Amino acid sequence: MNEPQHVIVSVSDGVCEVRLNRPDKRNAITLEMYRALTSAVHAANVDDEVRVVLFSGEGASFTSGNDLNDFLSGPPIDQDHDAARFIRTLPAIRKVMMAAVQGSTVGIGATLLLHCDLVVAARSARLSMPFVKLGLVPEAASSLLLPRLIGYQRAAEMLLLGEPIDAQRAFDIGMVNRVVDDPALMSEARALARTVAQQPTGALLATRRLLQGGSTTLLGRMEEELEAFREQLGSAEFRAAAQAFLSKRRGS
Ligand code: COA
Repeated sequence: MNEPQHVIVSVSDGVCEVRLNRPDKRNAITLEMYRALTSAVHAANVDDEVRVVLFSGEGASFTSGNDLNDFLSGPPIDQDHDAARFIRTLPAIRKVMMAAVQGSTVGIGATLLLHCDLVVAARSARLSMPFVKLGLVPEAASSLLLPRLIGYQRAAEMLLLGEPIDAQRAFDIGMVNRVVDDPALMSEARALARTVAQQPTGALLATRRLLQGGSTTLLGRMEEELEAFREQLGSAEFRAAAQAFLSKRRGS
């Protein structure tokens, strides 16, 4: 039997859709999925047909973040870790980045949005960055990008407490562009992506580049975060929190 494809990539009308497809695990991202994501965005980056990359997820959640089993038993976190490689790719992307999110949007699911130019959220979306609750620290330069986007104290509250915010709150504080009814999520996001993709390409991509600015600061912050993340991943507080979640789910 063929293995299910956990990341589905398609290109049409100038839009590369990258869809997480592991709904039974709320699209928790495994090492194999990080590799697929990295190669999908690399391919989109060098494809002249692509103007927009649109991330989405199948099922009830956009993503529950990093697969906690992989954090417990996977390879050590360093520059070569598949998650670190994916994260480092983000500032290098030259295309307009978009996401369509619903339900739980946790960890890397939420920090990925900080690298997106446009985010459409379904009413069910709940964004959270529970790194501290898990005994971890923020990643993907979110410790820099989040305060920049929503203000220091709001960012501190989200990161220190790790409580989810709903779609309306995310809209009110500027983390998402639009809130739509759940059944309309993908049609609205695709329509917006196609409208963006139809803009004059040179001006579109040059404007995006100017909006984003250079990547040196982001990469530097990612490195600092990775160092702290690695330390915390080896801590007793992380192991206890991750095992508590996973064992609760196994009903033991
Ligand atoms: N890593 C590994 N497995 C995960 C996971 C994750 N991050 N998130 C969910 N799953 C698994 C659950 O273990 C469960 O598996 P099972 O059916 O084999 O028991 C399945 O996905 C469904 O999860 P469940 O918790 O029952 O779904 P829910 O809709 O009630 O809750 C979440 C969704 C996202 C709120 C909840 O799963 C959650 O809090 N996940 C952990 C989030 C997290 O801490 N991520 C890491 C951030 S760095």
